[in-house]
Amino acid sequence: MPVLDGVISAMIALNRADEQGLMAQLTGQLRSLIASGRLGKGRVLPSSRRLASDLGVSRNTVTYAFEQLAAEGYLEASHGRRPVVTVDGGEPGKGASAASARTAEPRLSPWASKLRQTDWPMSYQAPLKPLRPGHGDSREFPNEVWARCLRRGAVRAARRELGPINRPRLRESLAHYLATSRGVRATVDQILILPSAQAALTLIAAALISPSDEVWVEDPGYPGAAAAFRASGARVTGIRLDEQGMQRMPGLAAPTLIFMTPSHQHPTGRLMSLARRTEFLRSSKPGKTWIVEDDYDGEFHYDSRPVPALQGLDAHGRVFYVGTFSKAMTSDIRLGYLVVPPALVSTLEIAQRHIGLIASSHIQEALAEFIADGHFLAHLRRMRRLYHARRDHLAAGLERHLGEALSVEVPSGGIQLVARLKRGRADQAAVRRLVAAGVETRALSSLALGRPRDHGLLLGFAAWRESEISAAVRTMASCF
Ligand SMILES: Cc1ncc(COP(=O)(O)O)c(C=O)c1O
Repeated sequence: MPVLDGVISAMIALNRADEQGLMAQLTGQLRSLIASGRLGKGRVLPSSRRLASDLGVSRNTVTYAFEQLAAEGYLEASHGRRPVVTVDGGEPGKGASAASARTAEPRLSPWASKLRQTDWPMSYQAPLKPLRPGHGDSREFPNEVWARCLRRGAVRAARRELGPINRPRLRESLAHYLATSRGVRATVDQILILPSAQAALTLIAAALISPSDEVWVEDPGYPGAAAAFRASGARVTGIRLDEQGMQRMPGLAAPTLIFMTPSHQHPTGRLMSLARRTEFLRSSKPGKTWIVEDDYDGEFHYDSRPVPALQGLDAHGRVFYVGTFSKAMTSDIRLGYLVVPPALVSTLEIAQRHIGLIASSHIQEALAEFIADGHFLAHLRRMRRLYHARRDHLAAGLERHLGEALSVEVPSGGIQLVARLKRGRADQAAVRRLVAAGVETRALSSLALGRPRDHGLLLGFAAWRESEISAAVRTMASCF
C-alpha cells in the first residue's frame, strides 16, 4: 500500500531540535493518531523499514515506537509482520486529550509536512559554539572593505538601467572565477544568483521533481539536499560511499536526479576519483538523469591542487553546479549561485522569478565590486592559510588528547573533519555529553539516511582560533 504508507508518514512531524527525543515524539504522535481515530482499527501501518526511510530516522526508533504502542494495547505487532491498529479511534483513554489538541493543528501540504520532518536548517539558528561544523570564521572577514563595496553597490543598483534579477557584472565575474579556479564551463546566462545554495536545491527540486521520482543522495550526506528533494515528493535513496566516493548502482533503475559533493564529500571529506566521476557521467543519460554537483566549500584545499569540477567534464549538459558564499565569505551574506545546464536556463529563470528566489541587487553589485577589486581572492588566500593551520591544530590536538577514543580523518580541504569513534556506536550520546559541556558537534550517524553505519563526530575547525580549538579539545577529553 505505498500511497497509504506515504500518507501516514505525512501525518507525522518530527523535530530533531526538540528536547523530547525522536522515539518519544514518534510514539506520542502515533498514539494520538490512533486515539483520535485518524488511524482506525484494522489499519495496517507501514513496515518499520519503510516508515524509517520515509521519516529519515533510524529503524530502531520506529521499532521502539511500535513495541511501546503494542505494549500499551494500541497495536498488534508480531515479528516479521506489519503492525495493525487494534483500538477504535476516539475511545477515551490514553492520549485522547493530546489527540484533541492535535486535531486543532493546521492541515499542512505534503511539502510542508515533509519539511517539518527534518531538523535542518532550523536547529542551526542557535548561536554559534565551538566546534560547530559548517562555518568559516566571520571574525576574519574584512568588514570595512565590504562596507565600502556595499555603499558602491547600492549606488550602482539604484541606477535604473541595471535591471536584470541576475546582475550581469556578478555573473561575468563568477563565470570567469569558476572557469579559472574550478574548471566550470558556463556562459554568463547559465549562472543564476540566488540567496543560498539551499535555494538552488529548492529551485531544482521544484523544476524537475515529480512525486515518486527517484533521487539518489550520498549516505551519509547533506541533510539539506535530502530534505529539499523529499519535500518535493521524491523517493530519496541513500547511496553508500567507498574510498572513491559515492558508489555507482548499476542494479538500480536510473534515477531522475543524483545529488553529490564530489570535490569534498559532505560529511566525510572524501574526494570522488576521476574514474568514478567519469562512470557517473557515462551512465547518466542526457535529458533523463540530472546530476547536481554541490561544491559548497571547494575554495578551501590545503594539501594539493584542487580537483576540477565534475561539471567541466560534462559534454552533454546534464550537470548542475551549485556554489555558495556562505563558507568562502561569511554565512550571513546569504548568497549562492547555480550553473544551469543550457537546455534548462529559461525554465529555471522563470521558476526563480515565480518562487521569488531573487538575491538583493545591492548585495549582488557589492559582491561584483568585491571580486573585481581583488578582495575576494585575497580573502580566500588568507583564509586558506588560516584554516589549513587550524585543521592541523585540531587534528593534532585530537590525536594527542583523544587518540585512544577517536580516529581522526584529516581532509585535504574544507572546513570540518570527521573523528570516528574507535569503540562503540554511541555517537549521539557522546554528542549530548559534549554539548552539555559546551562543545558543539554533530553525530555522523545523524547524517545517515538508512541504518547508520558510520559513528563519529563531525567537528568544525575553520571558525575557531587555535586557542579556542585547544580549549574545546581539553573539554572533549574530559568528557570521554
Ligand atoms: C554540502 C552543503 N551544501 C550546501 C550548504 C548550504 O549553503 P547555503 O548556506 O548557501 O545554503 C551547506 C551548508 O552547510 C552544505 O554543507
